[in-house]
Parts: sequence; structure tokens; C-alpha cells
Amino acid sequence: MTQTWHTQTPDTPLADGEVHLWRASLVQTPDALDALHALLAPDESAKAARYHFRRDRDHYVAARGLLRRLLGLYLAWPPESLNFSYNAYGKPSLDGAGDVRFNLSHSHELALYAFARGRDVGVDIEHVRAEFAGDDIAARFFSAREVEMLRTLPEATRTRAFFNCWTRKEAYIKARGEGLSHPLDAFDVSLIPGESAALLGTRGDPRELARWSLYALDAGDAYAAAVAVEGTDHTLRLRQWPPTLSRVNR
Ligand SMILES: CC(C)(COP(=O)(O)OP(=O)(O)OC[C@H]1O[C@@H](n2cnc3c(N)ncnc32)[C@H](O)[C@@H]1OP(=O)(O)O)[C@@H](O)C(=O)NCCC(=O)NCCS
Repeated sequence: MTQTWHTQTPDTPLADGEVHLWRASLVQTPDALDALHALLAPDESAKAARYHFRRDRDHYVAARGLLRRLLGLYLAWPPESLNFSYNAYGKPSLDGAGDVRFNLSHSHELALYAFARGRDVGVDIEHVRAEFAGDDIAARFFSAREVEMLRTLPEATRTRAFFNCWTRKEAYIKARGEGLSHPLDAFDVSLIPGESAALLGTRGDPRELARWSLYALDAGDAYAAAVAVEGTDHTLRLRQWPPTLSRVNR
């Protein structure tokens, strides 16, 4: 899977039927981090202050600050003036943003953002760690069908398959906005490396299968990433922030 993250000027408009994905480095210079911190609302600064480890705090600040920058560009609003609301499960949305919807995810040194008009989106990015991808974790979080698919794979491809599954499941529940209140064994996603990302089955509303599109994203060899998009009639556009991003594979 080779995908090109374009380094276009960021003021390209978000057209109907487009889904914009942004990959961004969370590794910021102290000055850049201060500038991003200055964009945050008091509740965001308070949340940042609650992080125990400085690195986690800095990454939260960078991810939120960049979210504000990107939304500010799309809406032509000052980034520091944006007011977020949250649904009952914590999914952020923007007051007064019309039909613009978004989602974000961050892991290790990267953040991933999705923006669209009039359709729900969910993204997930994970730093791939073989030690996390054990059978016990799979049995706890994945459906029986997913566990069985994973079991049949050769050892060498299992870690990648595990994170394919994890990120696709997360992207789907994040698009729905319900977080982990949506049972993780109530749906199946594809996971075999080299095969397309797809929602394979749901055990609730049968219309769900046709309602969503799932895509794997190539965020670098050290990461797995996915986006879930409502509907099927859309085009993905991949962008990178900042234009030079050289540290994605660690
Ligand atoms: C909170 C949750 C939505 C994602 O958590 P996560 O994977 O730890 O973190 P991510 O970086 O991918 O996403 C976090 C961002 O999603 C957004 N978010 C929070 N709640 C959300 C929700 N219910 N729906 C969509 N997005 C949500 C927020 O913007 C948050 O970032 P911020 O608070 O730093 O701004 C939720 O799914 C969760 O708790 N997951 C835990 C991991 C797990 O067990 N996954 C099972 C996978 S099989």
C-alpha cells in the first residue's frame, strides 16, 4: 500500500464529496509548541496540565493546537476562537461549523485528522508494537471471526494484521461516535495484510454495512492507520503537515 501525502498549501477548500486526511508530526520545537498551546481554550489547557508525563502533555497540546489550525483554515476563523462541544461519549464537534465534521487520533509521534462535509468520519492511528499484539489482547477486543482470521495467519504477518484490525475497529466506532460503548464483538473488519480494508459484518442494523466505507492509510512503516467514512460517494485527499515530515518511521 503506497499512498502519497501531498504537501499542498493548506488553504485548499474542503469540497462536498471530499474527505481530507492530514498526517502531522507531534514533535514540535519549544517555540512552535508554545504557539500551539496559546491557541487552546482553558478546558484544553487544564486537560493538558493533568497529563503525568511531559511527552504526553506536549503531544496532546500539539494535536489539539494543530486541530484548531486546520479547522481555522477550513472555516476561515481564528483558531483560538473555536468552541468545541462533545457528545455523551467524548467525540468533539464544532459549534457553528455548519456541515464540517472531523475526527482525530494520535499515537507516538504522529497525529491523524479527517475532515468532511455532511458525513461522519472516524480515524485511528497506532504505533505498531509487536509486544502489544498478543493473542490475549486480540481475544479481549476482537470478534470471534477476527480472532479466527488472525489465528490462521503466519506468525510474520500477525502483528501487522492485529493493528489493521485494531485501527479499523477504532475508526468505525469513532465515526459512529460511541467509543467503546459500542460492543467490539458486534462487528467484523478485514485484517489480512494486502487485502482491502472493509467492514465485513455487523450483528445489529443490517444497513450498517452499506452505510460505511473503511480505508487503510499508509502512515509509515511504524504505524497502522484507518479511516471510516459515512457513505460511498467520496474521494480521499491525503495531506501532510508540516510539508517536511522526516520522522514517521521510528
Ligand atoms: C476514546 C476513544 C474514542 C479513542 O481512544 P484512543 O484510541 O485511546 O485515542 P485516539 O488518539 O485514537 O483518539 C483520541 C481522540 O478521539 C476523539 N474522541 C474522543 N472520544 C471520541 C468518541 N467517542 N468518538 C470519536 N472520537 C472521539 C478526541 O478528539 C480524542 O483526542 P483528544 O481528546 O486528545 O483531542 C475510545 O475508542 C477508546 O477509549 N479506546 C480505547 C482503546 C481500545 O480499547 N480500543 C479497542 C480497539 S479494538
